[in-house]
Amino acid sequence: MKLADFKVEQWMNKYEMDAHYNLTDTCMKSLTIQELLDMEPLGSISLDYGQITGNKECKEAILSLYETGTTDQITTCHGCLEANQLVMETILEPGDHVLAFVPGYQQFIDMPRSLGCTVDTVSLDESKSWMPSITDVEQSLTENTRLIILNNPNNPTGTLYTGAFLDALIKLCRKQGIYILCDEVYRGLEANESISDLYERGIATSSLSKIYALAGLRFGWVKGPKEVIDQINVRKDYTMVSTGPLIDALALTALKHKEEILQRNRQILQTNKETIRQWLENEPRYHVQLPQEGTVCFLRYDFDIPSEQLALELLEQTGIFFVPGSCFDCEYHLRLGLGQDCQMTKEGLERLSQWTDQRLGC
Ligand SMILES: Cc1ncc(COP(=O)(O)O)c(C=O)c1O
Repeated sequence: MKLADFKVEQWMNKYEMDAHYNLTDTCMKSLTIQELLDMEPLGSISLDYGQITGNKECKEAILSLYETGTTDQITTCHGCLEANQLVMETILEPGDHVLAFVPGYQQFIDMPRSLGCTVDTVSLDESKSWMPSITDVEQSLTENTRLIILNNPNNPTGTLYTGAFLDALIKLCRKQGIYILCDEVYRGLEANESISDLYERGIATSSLSKIYALAGLRFGWVKGPKEVIDQINVRKDYTMVSTGPLIDALALTALKHKEEILQRNRQILQTNKETIRQWLENEPRYHVQLPQEGTVCFLRYDFDIPSEQLALELLEQTGIFFVPGSCFDCEYHLRLGLGQDCQMTKEGLERLSQWTDQRLGC
């Protein structure tokens, strides 16, 4: 079945290279290969397939990011996108019902649809710190619901699902044996629980792309019930085989040095959040709830320019780059990334205010 255009990815692909002030990237400012090699020389890597279900040491290092489980509950792949795809293709059958949250990551809606599933969505409520209502979730379940998909913390809203919400969700899912797929690609800067530690049918996906600043490595993983991981490994045999020893070695370096990398990134986030707080004090036209966790939030503006037009005008006239809310079917918002260069973020926001003055004739 045909896949719908992935709006955010297409927008990034078309315009990202024109950005002077990239205020929308969801990754931390990237590390270089040299920075990784300085942490650990790679030595002589034999370029065979490596371990098919994932390098053992990498899986042990990944397991240390969780509270429960064993390494045979983990498999590795190319990025969190592929991790999500592997889970959905493994679990879902045509006719299954899937529930996802909006605004959110389009993969969770259009990938299940392409597999012949019906998908319903539950809205995140901006007035409630972008949390959904558990009653809405309960009312959206059907007897065919097979999978609920979350992104915790959520792109683009920054929602961090509360423990109470997750408990209530798990209770609902347990009654019907529903799986929960939680994309946790933005988790790990603070101590937040993983769905795979909370629920026996919880499946967590993640990668080194966002909080580890290594999107170019394309290294991701799935952690979940062993029977699901076994089936994913069968599927991998038909497509990717393995992530390969080169990527595995670089990933292992990053995971071994995670505290160093995360400390660098926490610092960047803290500085950028403070810059944004100060900027908002003198900027009445833009509003944002800065997230507790993750690298992304959703900036709302209160003047009447459609978000795509606004993003295009900004890019053409100032080099400021945003993903517009329209890519998430949510108007009058722009996705704001928190993890990029601190000076660039500061200057970009100042330039945004100047441009807004001129554009609105203030
Ligand atoms: C929720 C979510 N999942 C997955 C990805 C892609 O992650 P990766 O680079 O690890 O494939 C993104 C990137 O924007 C994302 O926002």
